[in-house]
Amino acid sequence: MKQIEQAKLAMSKSYSPYSRFKVGAAIELKDGTFIHGANIENASFGLSICAERSAMVSLLSQGYQKEDIVSITIIADDKIPVSPCGACRQFMHEILPKNTKILLTNLKGEIKETTPDELLPYAFVLDES
Ligand code: THU
Repeated sequence: MKQIEQAKLAMSKSYSPYSRFKVGAAIELKDGTFIHGANIENASFGLSICAERSAMVSLLSQGYQKEDIVSITIIADDKIPVSPCGACRQFMHEILPKNTKILLTNLKGEIKETTPDELLPYAFVLDES
């Protein structure tokens, strides 16, 4: 499955000398492009950035739009399909369109498909009206 292959490529770019837990995220766009993100850690642990957020920040920084997104696949060498942290759920809820396919996976080939609303019901949304 090309989404999983891309997420593994993203995972290979992880900088995680502290946790040694490599995570990769690959965002699939409508034109077939994949945007990669990996977890990037820091000696000041709290500054570490998760793979999902790294991918979303990269996407917007490169000038792509939310509307270009089809899916995001997240992978780690975990016992169960990797479960995004609370901060990433909030971030995905805002950046990913409602119908985005979120594929949580692991190196055993297990896949859990979900959505932004399912991962974060009753999300915080700033009323801009
Ligand atoms: N991590 C992610 O990148 N994404 C997740 O969904 C879960 C956790 C990272 C953060 C940290 O670098 C390492 O995994 C261990 O918590």
